[in-house]
Amino acid sequence: MAAPSTRALWGYCGRGWSRAMRGCRLPGLRSSWPGSPLGARLLSQEKRASETHFGFETVSEEEKGDKVYQVFESVAKKYDVMNDMMSLGIHRVWKDVLLWRMHPFPGTQLLDVAGGTGLAWVLGDAEELPFDEDKFDVYTIAFGIRNVTHMDRALQEAHRVLKPGGRFLCLEFSQVDNPLVSKLYDLYSFQVIPVLGEVIAGNWKSYQYLVESIRKFPAQEEFKEMIEDAGFQKVTYESLSSGIVAIHSGFKL
Ligand SMILES: C[S@@+](CC[C@H](N)C(=O)[O-])C[C@H]1O[C@@H](n2cnc3c(N)ncnc32)[C@H](O)[C@@H]1O
Repeated sequence: MAAPSTRALWGYCGRGWSRAMRGCRLPGLRSSWPGSPLGARLLSQEKRASETHFGFETVSEEEKGDKVYQVFESVAKKYDVMNDMMSLGIHRVWKDVLLWRMHPFPGTQLLDVAGGTGLAWVLGDAEELPFDEDKFDVYTIAFGIRNVTHMDRALQEAHRVLKPGGRFLCLEFSQVDNPLVSKLYDLYSFQVIPVLGEVIAGNWKSYQYLVESIRKFPAQEEFKEMIEDAGFQKVTYESLSSGIVAIHSGFKL
């Protein structure tokens, strides 16, 4: 399987992207007169628009990329062992299901964004992919889109680089649909995962971010709508393990 893949090394991409953001944030609002009530309202909307979440924390959009970069820098060495420990190896089954759904054939041009399965590595930002349009048969992103600052842009980029007929597949944490599992999962997430992070990886904070970022991620239906808004059609999803994760699929037609 030809598998070029891209992973953000944020020290580089994040800065470039932040510069671009400063230039393009809500340009229409900047022309209003700040002294007027309307201007004040627009300015406060602009302020809100430039804030985002980093787990349960509110941060500026400029800050978020660097913070996410630091999380993955700090967990990289223990990343696989932590995934095995936290999920008791089940993350491997979820990833196998993603591959079965993809059903690649020899010669499939696959772009796996946010790294993991690729053969050729390309440095890039999911929000600004360094590829021409209509290039790939399949775009996958596993546990990656939750971390990007503007998910709508990442989805639009996915749509842009896929060939007509190409498929988008996303494996991501989602909303648990069983009340009992949900209670146990919450308990496990907030009481156990950060402790495991501290004991195994010496990193409580990054694993606290992990569980918080999962709670901030849209539920299955809402994420489906976001994918449709980016231009994908025949969007469906499949919840796995009572909705702990979901695989969303869509086509560029
Ligand atoms: C949780 S890991 C997922 C790795 C792998 N896909 C897996 O399933 O195990 C998230 C990855 O997303 C990358 N990432 C975060 N923001 C990104 C962005 N804007 N563009 C591309 N990659 C990003 C991080 O650097 C990290 O490697």
